[in-house]
Amino acid sequence: MKNLIKLLLLLTVVSFILISCEGPMGPAGNDGLNGADGKDANTACLKCHTMANSETKLAEYHLSKHFVGTTSARNTKYCARCHTNEGFLEITGAGKFVVSNDIPNATRITCVTCHKHTGFDFSVDTLSQILRTTTPIYLNYRKNLTTTDFGKTNNLCVTCHQIRGITSDKYTDATVTPNVVRTYNQLPYFPLDNTLEATTVKFQVGRNFSVHDGNQSNLFSGINGYEYAGKTYTRTWKHSAFKCTDCHMNQYNATTKTGGHSLIVNKDACTTCHSGSDKLTPIQTTIEAKRIELAELLTTRKVFKKTTNSSGVVSYAALPSHDFLGTLFPTTNTAPTTYATALASANTVDPKTGLVVYANNVTMATDADWANRIGREWRYGELGAAYNYAYINSELSKGVHNPTYALQLLQNSIDWLKAN
Ligand code: HEC
Ligand code: HEC
Ligand code: HEC
Ligand code: HEC
Ligand code: HEC
Ligand code: HEC
Repeated sequence: MKNLIKLLLLLTVVSFILISCEGPMGPAGNDGLNGADGKDANTACLKCHTMANSETKLAEYHLSKHFVGTTSARNTKYCARCHTNEGFLEITGAGKFVVSNDIPNATRITCVTCHKHTGFDFSVDTLSQILRTTTPIYLNYRKNLTTTDFGKTNNLCVTCHQIRGITSDKYTDATVTPNVVRTYNQLPYFPLDNTLEATTVKFQVGRNFSVHDGNQSNLFSGINGYEYAGKTYTRTWKHSAFKCTDCHMNQYNATTKTGGHSLIVNKDACTTCHSGSDKLTPIQTTIEAKRIELAELLTTRKVFKKTTNSSGVVSYAALPSHDFLGTLFPTTNTAPTTYATALASANTVDPKTGLVVYANNVTMATDADWANRIGREWRYGELGAAYNYAYINSELSKGVHNPTYALQLLQNSIDWLKAN
C-alpha cells in the first residue's frame, strides 16, 4: 500500500513536470521545396495508421502460425532466411540465398518482415508499396540464377514458400582414421530429369530429396514435380489467376477467426462464391486417397517403409538402398557385419552458445532394417514417384493449390509403378 502511494505520488510529479514543460505553439513552418502544401497525412496515412487498424491487424496476426510457429532451432544459417525476421531482412536486402551466419538471437516473423515503405505516394499502388519485396525470385533450391515471377504480392510469400534447398553439407566421417570431413550434396538428383528414366540411382543414407513444407508455390504454378517421359501435364486450373492473398487474406471472420492477417483461409468466402457448395472437401478427399495409394505401392516395393506409431498414426518414409559409404544394404540378417547406417547428432544446438554445431557424425552399426530393404538400386522412375509423394505430402494443402496438376503427378506415378 505504502509503495502504491509512493508510486502514485511519483506519477503525479512526473505528469506535472510534463504538463509544465509544454510551451506555447511555435511559429508556422516554412513552405515545402516547391512552395506547395505537402500531402495531407490525415487522408494519405490514416487509411492504414489508425490505432484501431493496427490493433485489428495485430490481433489477427496473433492467430497466424507465422507468429506462433518459429523456434530457436530455426535460427540457423540454412533456416533463418525463411523462419526469422532478421534472416529475411538479410537475404532480401543483400540478394542472397542463405544468411552468412547462424542468428541465435533472431526474432520471429513480424509486421516489418513483410512490410516496408518504399515510397509515400499512396495514390499510385497502395498495397504493394508497403510490402518489403514484390520482385521475381531466385529460387533457393538449385541456387537458380534466373528469376521466376510468381506475380507481385505472390513474390513476397514465395520468397519463403518455396522448395527449401540445402540445409547442411558437412559430415564428419569417423569410420576412417584419421576422421575426415566430407561434403555432401543434399539434393543430388535435382532437378529431376526424365531423360534419365532408364537409369538407376543409389539412395544412400544422408541423401534427401525432401522439398520441405513450404512447397506451395510450385504446386500452385504446376512446376517442379517429377514428370514422366511421354506424359503431358496441365499447369493451370480454375484458380491459377488468384493471388495467395485472395484466399489467405480474404475477409476476416471474427467467429471462425479466419481470413485477414490470420492468413488462415476463411472458407465461408469460398462457399459463398460456389453458390453454397463445398468444392474443397471432395478435392482434398480424392487427393488424399491417391496419396495413400501411391505410398502403399512404394511400400510394397520397399522403396518406402511404413510405420504406425503408438497412437495409430501411419507415416511413410523413404528407406535407403545403400549406406552412407555406398555399400548396398543386404536383405538378410548379416550381423555382426556393420554399415554406415546413420548420421548422429545432426545439427544440434549448443546449449551454451545457442549456436548450431554442424557435426553430423557417420555411425557404424548392424542393420536392423534388413527385412525392409530393397536390395538393389532404385530405378529412376521409383525416385520420381517417391519424390512426387513427398511433393504432395509436404505441400500441406492436400492438393488444393492445383488439383489438376496434383492428380496428374500422383496418377502418373501410380501408373508407372504398375507398368514397370
Ligand atoms: C497502405 C497502408 C499504409 C499507408 C497508406 C501508410 N502506411 Fe506507414 N506503414 C504501413 C505498414 C503496414 C507498416 C509496417 C507495420 C508497422 O510497423 O506498423 C508501416 C510503417 C510505417 C512506419 C514505420 C517505419 C517503417 O517504414 O517500417 C512509418 C514511419 C510510417 N509507416 C509512416 C507512414 C506515413 C508518414 C504515411 C503517410 C504518408 C504512411 N505511413 C502511410 C502501412 C501504411
Ligand atoms: C525456403 C524457405 C525455408 C527454409 C530455408 C526453411 N524452411 Fe522450414 N518452412 C518453410 C515454410 C514456408 C514452412 C511453412 C509450412 C506450413 O507450416 O504451412 C516451413 C515449415 C517448417 C516446419 C513445420 C512447421 C512447424 O513450424 O512445425 C519445420 C519443422 C521447419 N520448417 C523446419 C525448418 C528447418 C529446421 C530449416 C533449416 C534446416 C528450415 N525449416 C528451412 C520455409 C522454409
Ligand atoms: C506474411 C506477411 C505479412 C505480415 C507478417 C503482415 N502483413 Fe500486413 N499485409 C500483408 C499483405 C500481403 C498486405 C496486402 C493485402 C492485400 O493485398 O489486400 C498487407 C496489408 C496491410 C495493411 C493495409 C491494408 C489494410 O487492411 O489496412 C496494413 C495496415 C497492414 N498490413 C498492417 C500489418 C501489421 C500491423 C502487421 C503486424 C501485426 C502486419 N501487417 C503483418 C502482409 C503481411
Ligand atoms: C519470411 C518468410 C515468410 C513469408 C514472407 C511468408 N511466409 Fe508464410 N510461413 C512461413 C513460415 C516459416 C511458416 C511456418 C510457421 C512456423 O512454423 O514458423 C509459414 C506459415 C504459413 C501458413 C500456415 C498457416 C498459418 O496458420 O499461418 C500460411 C497459410 C502462410 N504461411 C501463408 C503465407 C502468405 C499468404 C504469405 C504472403 C502474404 C506468406 N505466408 C509469407 C514463412 C513465410
Ligand atoms: C484458391 C485459393 C488459394 C490460393 C490462391 C492459395 N491458397 Fe494456400 N490454401 C488454400 C486452402 C483451401 C488450403 C487448405 C486449408 C485447409 O485445409 O484447412 C491452403 C493451404 C495452405 C497452406 C498450408 C496451411 C497449413 O495449415 O499449414 C499454406 C502454407 C498455403 N496454403 C500457402 C499459400 C501460398 C504461399 C499461396 C500462393 C502461392 C497460396 N497458399 C495460394 C487456398 C488457397
Ligand atoms: C470469385 C468466385 C470464387 C471464389 C471466391 C472461389 N472460387 Fe473456387 N471456383 C470458382 C469457379 C467459377 C469454379 C469453376 C466452376 C465450378 O467448378 O463450379 C471454381 C472451382 C473450384 C474448385 C474445383 C472444383 C472441381 O470440382 O473441379 C475448387 C477445389 C475450388 N474452386 C476451391 C475454392 C476455394 C478453396 C476457395 C476459397 C479459398 C474458392 N474456390 C473461392 C469460383 C470461385
